[in-house]
Amino acid sequence: MDTTPLAGESSRTVSRAARLRGEPRLPGDKSISHRALILSTLAEGESLVTGAGDGRDVQATAGIMAALGATVERIRDDGLNVDYRVVSPGADGLHDPESVLDCRNSGTSMRLCSGMLAGLPLFAVLDGDGSLRTRPVARIIEPLRLMGAVLYSRHSDTLPPLVVIGRQRLTAIDFTTRVPSAQVKSAILLAGLRAEGATTVREAVATRDHTERMLRSRGIEVRREPATSSGGGPVAWTVEGGAQLAAKDERVPADPSAAAFWLVAGAIHPDAELTLRAVGVNPTRRASIDLLTRMGATIEEMAVGGASPEAGEPLADLTVRSSELRAIDISPNEVAAAIDEIPILCLAATQAHGKTTIRGAGELRNKESDRIAGIVNGLRAMGARISIDGDDITIEGPTQLVGTPTQTLDDHRLAMTFAVAGLIATGSTSIDRADSAAVSYPSFFTEMERLRA
Ligand code: S3P
Repeated sequence: MDTTPLAGESSRTVSRAARLRGEPRLPGDKSISHRALILSTLAEGESLVTGAGDGRDVQATAGIMAALGATVERIRDDGLNVDYRVVSPGADGLHDPESVLDCRNSGTSMRLCSGMLAGLPLFAVLDGDGSLRTRPVARIIEPLRLMGAVLYSRHSDTLPPLVVIGRQRLTAIDFTTRVPSAQVKSAILLAGLRAEGATTVREAVATRDHTERMLRSRGIEVRREPATSSGGGPVAWTVEGGAQLAAKDERVPADPSAAAFWLVAGAIHPDAELTLRAVGVNPTRRASIDLLTRMGATIEEMAVGGASPEAGEPLADLTVRSSELRAIDISPNEVAAAIDEIPILCLAATQAHGKTTIRGAGELRNKESDRIAGIVNGLRAMGARISIDGDDITIEGPTQLVGTPTQTLDDHRLAMTFAVAGLIATGSTSIDRADSAAVSYPSFFTEMERLRA
């Protein structure tokens, strides 16, 4: 076996692949899956969510929706994706959860559910695993308190567990986020649904806009200033409070953040051709495709089916082939747009000719692990020339990577990045806690074995 679980642990070793061919199956978009479950719970009636990613994070949100009073039924499950039938009494019929709401490893569950709960007259405690308990919540406590909800958390209101005592009616706010964050924006917009009047969230750079698209598709008025997505500058989103969400069926597109692992694998491997089907290519999510293309990656993109009609998300088939990569300069705004793909883009940069700089990457320290430390230590152990200066990462390439033990810090995206590195490294690369990939991509290692077979 080429990717081998080590006996008795969740570690795996990955050896160099002679060639990579095929069509890896992708999980349903994690961000959209969470939102589909939450919006289906806020709407009265039955909603089908088809092709949701069956990672542990989305499972956490499904569990929370059930604890609040929705019936959340898994009607099909193929080990990677799941179809849910959600039957909800609607926002006003939900009840206090009997026990602590377990967000597990999922920052999206904690932050989006806080926004949802802020506008419901319920008492809830949100908690998670050891990683989530180190991740900041002040960024959501501040705006939700301004709206009238009562929130407390550990360590002077900075760290989970988080208590949310919601209100039947909230006050609308006009709020500028301190760091670009779709989770914070979404929490405020969800609370805004239950506010008197119009709630506006301003961000310096447009983050993923799935919440906004999905609210619109469920009959809620959401305005964007400026109206179009060109320009990449500051943007303001406004939601009108008081409207009822409609129950609705939704098909979840394939996750572009999961696709990025295979796009990089295909580009950096000398004998590769991989095709990814029906990937979400929303302009606020496609930065990794565009950055890789700028690095010289050969990625063919074929729009499919126009759009995922239910969620209003554009889709494309992507084919990547072995490519000669060159270094690029990634700006802070581009980091915000490719926030989840920076670890795998760092791996791509180790194979690019020249010096890649990734500026303003500090937010990566607030993810499932300190991803700056994790990626720098892991890739450096494999021989990469990578350094960090404040919030800026510099990588000089190309470097022949050397298989070695890597530390994932129990972070799914680091585990998958080191596994992809193992496909081009000499010797064998071992990945501790490789099971963390199941947080977002349960069949990742199975797909990897198929592609190299
Ligand atoms: C997400 C937003 C991002 C991203 C996370 C998912 C979302 O977090 O890193 O994986 O679904 O809204 P931030 O908004 O906190 O940057």
